[in-house]
Amino acid sequence: MNVADFGERYRERIWESHFAEDFERDVVTGLSASNKSIPSKYLYDALGSTLFEAIVLLPEYDLPRRENALLERYVERIVGRSNGRLRLLELGSGSSQKTRTLIEAAIECHEAVEYTAIDIALEAVRAAAVQLLDRYPRVDVRAFVGDYFQVLGEIAPQPTTLALFLGSNLGNYPGERGVALLRALRGALAPSDTLLLGVDVRKDRALMERAYNDGIGVTAAFSKNVLARVNRDLGAEIDLENFAHLARFEEGTGSVESYLVADRAATYSLGGGRGTVRFAAGERIHIESSHKFTHEELQDLATASGFVERAYLPDEEAAFALVLWERGDDAAERNTPSLAHLE
Ligand code: TRP
Repeated sequence: MNVADFGERYRERIWESHFAEDFERDVVTGLSASNKSIPSKYLYDALGSTLFEAIVLLPEYDLPRRENALLERYVERIVGRSNGRLRLLELGSGSSQKTRTLIEAAIECHEAVEYTAIDIALEAVRAAAVQLLDRYPRVDVRAFVGDYFQVLGEIAPQPTTLALFLGSNLGNYPGERGVALLRALRGALAPSDTLLLGVDVRKDRALMERAYNDGIGVTAAFSKNVLARVNRDLGAEIDLENFAHLARFEEGTGSVESYLVADRAATYSLGGGRGTVRFAAGERIHIESSHKFTHEELQDLATASGFVERAYLPDEEAAFALVLWERGDDAAERNTPSLAHLE
């Protein structure tokens, strides 16, 4: 881990030293399995993060605009008011664009504000930090760069904290992984701290699929970049032309599943003496689950991870929702049935 101090208002910690080895191991494991996959966190290298910034501008990908409208409507209720210090703790901060509404309200409603960003994309986090420090002279900025699970274990509770998990990012952690992540996040919160989630809601299939199939191919480029990264970082020789982006809603998982599909059968070198990977015609690599939530599922998630719902705030079309949870107390947590027997 790297700790860097850039003056009083900015401090960053980077877990990057692990990335190269983890990437190699995860890619080789994922492509050797009978159901091929690459973990979605590897979509966000420097190029991938930039392509994602383009995705949020696509008319088809309407999640950010819906979320922004809700944030503007409810921001004062969300940030609250105090004579003390508020820490905003954001998971998956990226460029921090969507957070500005919250930061600005926090400055107005609290004596002091600290913004702590957690993200895997170093370049995106640094660029965001420079902008925030310049734009908000009263805000202290902290950055933790690494895998959520790695980073959250190192963050101590600091009252008062408002945690942010926006952009339906939680949907990329389906099932038990989501519960584990929320529990890890709970560990960084003090009693009565709050968590704001922005989640995409289950709706008409065509509407959900459209967001992942844009007309000009930005999403396809974003997906294929993960294979380009395998070639760049590992010296593999995968023919990108043989792969197409496929995204579709699957009833079984309740998620839009994104894949890269091989058109014809082929065998490619993984580079550096790592052997080869074989594809049958039509074979897929799973690269992302984007879960679409019902209110009931969210209530179950809150209970399973030690939170209590304070507000459920959908937009008029019930297409996207903000959800405000409070950290449940430890007595309630002890009464929650343990999930350990499931493991
Ligand atoms: N968190 C975003 C989502 O699930 C990421 C995303 C948008 C994405 N478009 C994508 C991931 C296309 C893979 C492919 O909505």
